[in-house]
Amino acid sequence: MEKKKYYITTPIYYPSGNWHIGHCYTTVVCDALARFHKMLGEEVFFLTGTDEHGQKVEKEAQKRGVTPMRFIDPLVSELKDMWRLLDVQYDRFIRTTDEDHVKCVQKIYQKLYESGDIYKSEYSGWYCTPCESMWTEAQLKDGKCPDCGREVTLQKEESYFFRLSKYAPKILKLYEDKPEFLQPKSRVNEMVNNFLKAGLQDLCVSRTTVKWGIPLPFDRNHYAYVWIDALSNYISALGYLSEDDRLYRKFWPAELHMVGKEIVRFHAIIWPAILMALGEPVPEQVYGHGWLLIGGDKLSKSKSDAVRNELTDPYELVKRYGADAVRYFLLREIPFGSDGEYTNERFLGRVNADLANDLGNLVSRTSAMIVQNFGGKLPARGAAEGPDLELIAMAEGAFAKVRAAMEKLNAPDALSEIFALVSRANKYIDETTPWVLAKDESKKARLGAVLYNLAEVVRICAVLLKPFLTKAPSLILRSFSCDETAGFDTLTFGVLKEGASVEKLPPVFPRIDVKKELAAVDELVAAQKKAKAEKAEKERAASATERGGEAKEQITIDDFGKIELKIGEVIACERVPKSDKLLHETVRVGDEIRSVVSGIAKFYTPEEMIGKKVVLVANLKPVRLRGVLSEGMILCAEDKDGTLSLISPEKATESGATVC
Ligand code: MSP
Repeated sequence: MEKKKYYITTPIYYPSGNWHIGHCYTTVVCDALARFHKMLGEEVFFLTGTDEHGQKVEKEAQKRGVTPMRFIDPLVSELKDMWRLLDVQYDRFIRTTDEDHVKCVQKIYQKLYESGDIYKSEYSGWYCTPCESMWTEAQLKDGKCPDCGREVTLQKEESYFFRLSKYAPKILKLYEDKPEFLQPKSRVNEMVNNFLKAGLQDLCVSRTTVKWGIPLPFDRNHYAYVWIDALSNYISALGYLSEDDRLYRKFWPAELHMVGKEIVRFHAIIWPAILMALGEPVPEQVYGHGWLLIGGDKLSKSKSDAVRNELTDPYELVKRYGADAVRYFLLREIPFGSDGEYTNERFLGRVNADLANDLGNLVSRTSAMIVQNFGGKLPARGAAEGPDLELIAMAEGAFAKVRAAMEKLNAPDALSEIFALVSRANKYIDETTPWVLAKDESKKARLGAVLYNLAEVVRICAVLLKPFLTKAPSLILRSFSCDETAGFDTLTFGVLKEGASVEKLPPVFPRIDVKKELAAVDELVAAQKKAKAEKAEKERAASATERGGEAKEQITIDDFGKIELKIGEVIACERVPKSDKLLHETVRVGDEIRSVVSGIAKFYTPEEMIGKKVVLVANLKPVRLRGVLSEGMILCAEDKDGTLSLISPEKATESGATVC
């Protein structure tokens, strides 16, 4: 029989850096679901990645004076590091700058253009740069972006449009015919009431002003709108419209797009409309989860620093408490579908109570008592009696409950089932009092039976925990001589063999002195904030010095476009009389000859200059320097010590070529 397939995706992340624990939420939930379905024996494809194009990245890179790619690459590495630290096991990490993705997006645009679903017109609207979203006047809230409340700018340009309006009735019908398509249910009401009821406007899907994007194949002056570019990742990653589309044929439609609630609109309206226009099936489900809040805020980059000293840095959290603790908190604490609150106190409280106390205690007490009383060899099972029956029944029924919760994508409920079993086992220890049984030789068989039952529950919990925690289950299983690759087919009670070796485990989750740790974390975060502020100040000062004064204000690409830069060839050069700084060059710029004066005499002799290809600011107003006409400026790099070095084209380039 063919294996059931499960295609699950996270949104692709903006390479914004400054990652916080809220960012980890969607992906950790998806990782647990992917692992769960793998353990069910399904063929799983788990996709995540980065959303790299658009104005936001273009601007950030410009601000730093680097290319967008140089700006993004380290951030993508950081994100991958974060997933590695959290043991996120994706099957592909897609970048929207990947060649196959770019080609696929171009083919999607071409297809929609040819079918008439994309057409040319003029766009005028309000653009929110941080959200990369466009709004009509009516949609603005108090003149600001209705999603994030930030300033918007008016944009007018010739654009291509997607006939989204045509698909509004079809989307409404999709919600009716397939209620599971958009979950939780409350999101359907949001989409219908806020957007669909009033009808949809056609969507502007190209830009001419933002050049950091995918050029449209039918009009190279236009670049793909980032959201169409980004949403397409779900099918480009599978080779849609490529020569090798086997993955697409196998995995599409996706079983699940898991997304944060703020981007449901894109996934539950625009994306299905695009797919319908392409004649492709829509995903089985879009799930809009809630946010992890900190002090009531979504932990947005701009605000997260201002709030209390909460430790929200995932790298530091994993370093201090381990990946399992972070994964556990995210999967357990946030009520699925709703918002959840992060505080140091909640995090430490949850980890301490459930992992260190409940689970940690159960595991260490069980293994220690087997080592102590049976020399580390598992005793025989014995006949079940009294509280054994309830414990065994609960252990045997746990998988069905966990599975039912996971089928509803509800990791908190699944974990709460597992931890109910952990608690029941701890209670069983209190009920059966093995330390009392141990004192009486005649009760040795009963003690053995109790410890066997406990060992089995520990093993079953470890297997059940495997999709959620990635370190502790293996440790536990190994110490009970079990195969750490054990799957859900080992969940019947009584699998452990009498005589199997059991090792005493050091605490799987060390107990935390919460009060002390809270104080330490507070200090750490305060110090981090201070160091960050100092670093930012240093960088600002350094960049000001490098630029020879105060940091210059940002300019737009249009400002930059006013400067005409050309390659020139120095055909003659001499010193400017009575000046030890100035050289007078005769420069050929295409068919033109220019007279240029530059202050480089200390670094180049006239002889050295002849034949050099230089970059010339060609549209500077002519001036006279020491009586010599200067019709342009030759560009140089200036070292910290003031040494000047000519900027020349890296390859042979004709004079008159444009520098852009
Ligand atoms: N690039 C878009 C998605 C394009 S998908 C075709 C994007 N990126 S994002 O980096 O801003 O967000 C990535 C994911 O992180 C989203 O699911 C978002 O909801 C989630 N989270 C970011 N902060 C969050 C919290 N504080 N809490 C929970 N998840 C939130 O949107």
